[in-house]
Amino acid sequence: MATKDLVRLAIEAMTYAYAPYSGFRVGAALLTADGNVYQGCNIENAAYTPTNCAERTAFFKAVSEGKREFFAICIVGGKDGVLEGYTAPCGVCRQVMMEFCDPETFRVILAKDEEHWQEYYLKELLPMGFGPDNLIKTEQTN
Ligand code: THU
Repeated sequence: MATKDLVRLAIEAMTYAYAPYSGFRVGAALLTADGNVYQGCNIENAAYTPTNCAERTAFFKAVSEGKREFFAICIVGGKDGVLEGYTAPCGVCRQVMMEFCDPETFRVILAKDEEHWQEYYLKELLPMGFGPDNLIKTEQTN
């Protein structure tokens, strides 16, 4: 899938953001190894801490439908949905990526529009990350 198509899907996902408290709207589009895309938005909560970021919404949707291999995620965000700058994933979302993605190959795409984006590998955003390899010594899939 072309990056600009993933950007378009992230922008579309952002339109569903539920962000009445911060007003900061985020959208994500997660590309699976088998070519599917899972979209996610941030979902805030009056009690604040239950808030879920757009990236984790996308990951949890995908994993809950049996997906375990991922190629890339595109993220867009801005105050009131205005895409002025690049929105990088929070630390918790980087850790969730670390659980399911190869930090050497998984790409994180930060976009402003379909022509402007930056790309990073997960290992650049989460150096020396702690992941499944630290705990799982033998072949295990569940
Ligand atoms: N947010 C995300 O959805 N993803 C990020 O990577 C950064 C933060 C959301 C959470 C909250 O709803 C709002 O942005 C302000 O923090």
